[in-house]
Amino acid sequence: MTDTARPIVLSGIQPSGRLTLGNYLGAIKNWLPLSERYDCYYMLVDLHAITVRQDPAQLRERSYEFLALYIACGLDPQRNVLFAQSHVPAHARLGWILNCYTQMGELNRMTQFKDKSAKHVDNINAGLYSYPVLMAADILLYQASQVPVGDDQKQHLELTRDVAQRFNNLYGKVFTVPEPMIPPVGARIMSLKEPTKKMSKSDEAETNAIYLLDPPDTIVRKLKKAEMDSGNEIRFDIAGKPGVSNLMSILSATSGESFDAIAERYNGQGYGKFKQAVADAVVECLAPVQAKYRELRADEEGLRKVLRSGADRASAKADATLKKVHDVLGFIPE
Ligand code: TRP
Repeated sequence: MTDTARPIVLSGIQPSGRLTLGNYLGAIKNWLPLSERYDCYYMLVDLHAITVRQDPAQLRERSYEFLALYIACGLDPQRNVLFAQSHVPAHARLGWILNCYTQMGELNRMTQFKDKSAKHVDNINAGLYSYPVLMAADILLYQASQVPVGDDQKQHLELTRDVAQRFNNLYGKVFTVPEPMIPPVGARIMSLKEPTKKMSKSDEAETNAIYLLDPPDTIVRKLKKAEMDSGNEIRFDIAGKPGVSNLMSILSATSGESFDAIAERYNGQGYGKFKQAVADAVVECLAPVQAKYRELRADEEGLRKVLRSGADRASAKADATLKKVHDVLGFIPE
């Protein structure tokens, strides 16, 4: 972990909404083996979360919940640096500096800003606008070379690369220019009712997503209602059979079975039986995660200890970059 020669992975997740099966199978699960080859940093982006109004009690609860769920999903806090963005002051400090190296014209093009300001017309605040600049600071502080994100964050990553290159051109090689690590189509878990859309933790319709803390009967009920096509074939075909393909992805990721094996086993047996098999696999996969979660969540002091140690480790790395930035800008050393 202290081997500085290892490349760095960093990602962040907003402690808003509720973590879904899609977050687990499409993201967290893929992060587990990364710590063998990379120094990995994962943070709760609470500073980003307040760009839209949050209920304070809920934000705190979700932050504990997300941390406990990450660990319950297998993300070992010894092998990965788990921390809260608000605990590492360097984020806000570099965020300010990078605001001075980002053009308004660039921020005006950000599609997430356009979407979010259309959704929150009564609160189009400056933080929402410069959200991608803080995200660039998050990434560049750690000299991350790989950034696991969803497809929707690609534009923010491009901006991060542009800002890093601009800064490096002016001041020498201060920042590592990062690459996005985007899961391939097919590895993504889609909404149950609208399987051409991503399964999202912020979806308002409850039945679109399976939440990691859903009890077994809820999981069964939601899968029974999953949208399928009018045929009866079990075959992987994202364009023609998005609902069936999505459930095949879920079954394959939870049971380890290949698409071919799944198609052979369930084809011709009707969607009802197939859905039940998917539900059984999901319930079985989530049972140990939920048990571990309850144990971790009951020990709030233990969770805070994880965050304190994470913030110490993160600060060591982040402060070194910030110092370099202050130095090239001409600030008097502290
Ligand atoms: N904007 C990201 C999202 O909504 C969250 C995020 C903030 C992030 N900072 C980051 C992701 C740094 C990766 C790296 O998904």
